[in-house]
Amino acid sequence: MTTKTEAAAALAGDTDGKAEDTLRITDSRTGETYEIPIVDGAIRSLDLRQIKTSEDDFGLLAYDPAFMNTASCRSAITYLDGDLGVLEYRGYPIEQLAEHSTYLEVAYLLVHGELPTAAELATWTHEIKTHTFVHENVKSFIQGFRHDAHPMGMLLGSIGALSTFYPDANQIHDPANRAIQTIRLIAKMPTLAAFSYRHNMGQPYVYPDNDLEYAGNFLGMLYKMTELKYQPDPRLAKALDVLFILHADHEQNCSTSAVRAIGSSGVDPYSAIAGGIAALYGPSHGGANEEVVRMLLRIGSKENIPDFIAGVKAGRERLMGFGHRVYKNYDPRARIIKKACDDVFEVTGVNPLLDIATELEKIALGEEYFVSRSLYPNVDFYSGLIYQALGMPMAMFPVMFAIGRTSGWIAQWLEMVQDSEQKIARPRQIYTGERNRDYVPLAERG
Ligand code: CMC
Repeated sequence: MTTKTEAAAALAGDTDGKAEDTLRITDSRTGETYEIPIVDGAIRSLDLRQIKTSEDDFGLLAYDPAFMNTASCRSAITYLDGDLGVLEYRGYPIEQLAEHSTYLEVAYLLVHGELPTAAELATWTHEIKTHTFVHENVKSFIQGFRHDAHPMGMLLGSIGALSTFYPDANQIHDPANRAIQTIRLIAKMPTLAAFSYRHNMGQPYVYPDNDLEYAGNFLGMLYKMTELKYQPDPRLAKALDVLFILHADHEQNCSTSAVRAIGSSGVDPYSAIAGGIAALYGPSHGGANEEVVRMLLRIGSKENIPDFIAGVKAGRERLMGFGHRVYKNYDPRARIIKKACDDVFEVTGVNPLLDIATELEKIALGEEYFVSRSLYPNVDFYSGLIYQALGMPMAMFPVMFAIGRTSGWIAQWLEMVQDSEQKIARPRQIYTGERNRDYVPLAERG
């Protein structure tokens, strides 16, 4: 039996030659034992590479489809405890931020790591507000889409296109350059989102009104018609701002991992975030809020819920807005959104689908199928009802998610770019295909 403690300690950078916590692995193929350092509750997959059956063996790989148990980075942005249902941005509980903060303050917190002083917030807000306009050519670009193009597709295309308007954004190692692209991305995302909506509606695009706050300005760009000055209902603007806060970051989810993976190639942040929007578009991620409302419409009335639940249990249906890769408890964001529903419905009147949603939640939470799988409502279960009450078509729901998530994507991208440990993302594979075959001419193939 050989103990490779010294090699392990050297890998951990332990100059005393002793690793504090280690994992001892015995390879039954060779009888060799290895000590793998444990740091922050993790081993380095690369430490497994020393485990070989022979000199020419490549070494042991960790196989982890969908990264179910692999940390891809160290991050100081968002803390999530899925078992307890805890979510914190930079250490501040989401409940406190939703109640006391604003989206732009939260965006500052995510990007800079600390809550701003009054002067810092004023400067940050001024900078965002004075970068909300997009180049006029972007308008013609959006006009090129079909009238019924999905707004998420338009957003994805137009954010990617921004990299051509700011070609210097590829100077990703210049802090000043990164700072201006950060401002631009947070500032312009609502403008592009609103232009996409107006394009679908066949209505003229509305330019940003920088007198308005972030969410109110967005509502203005969506709904302003002939009035000289759009005055958002402060209760609706506040509810929307809270939704943006709740969606701002969620550590290494599918779209954020996409932003990091794409960004790791050294590309500009517009291209990386276009990739994040693409990942968010899918029904298992940011498209779920849209699917929830479609599902509620399909269920149609409370009497049909038992049939629907039976379909879910039989595997014919999926209860959209339920379940989460990380939360095995009530998603804390869903709790806050339920409260925001009350505030919005006070202004707009109750969304008739709310009754079905509430009953569906009650029935599901009492069913063994959902309890045994720890399936609880997630952020998407109620958010669609609010967007619908605000007058948005379903196709806009994932776009709303993207607006809020932009500050998180950019904060994660900034962290990744400055992390000396990060390299271009390049997972390994376990090859399962054929080898060493000779080419067969077409005429000879059966
Ligand atoms: N309805 C019915 N069964 C479900 C659901 C659901 N919504 N979610 C999970 N399950 C079942 C699944 O069939 C599996 O059962 P079994 O063990 O018998 O095979 C078990 O629960 C584990 O599910 P999984 O698919 O292995 O879990 P996952 O971590 O791969 O998937 C998820 C997570 C969010 C993709 C999934 O729960 C889902 O599809 N939910 C509906 C879509 C949704 O609401 N997505 C929004 C996620 S939150 C916002 C965001 O971050 O994007």
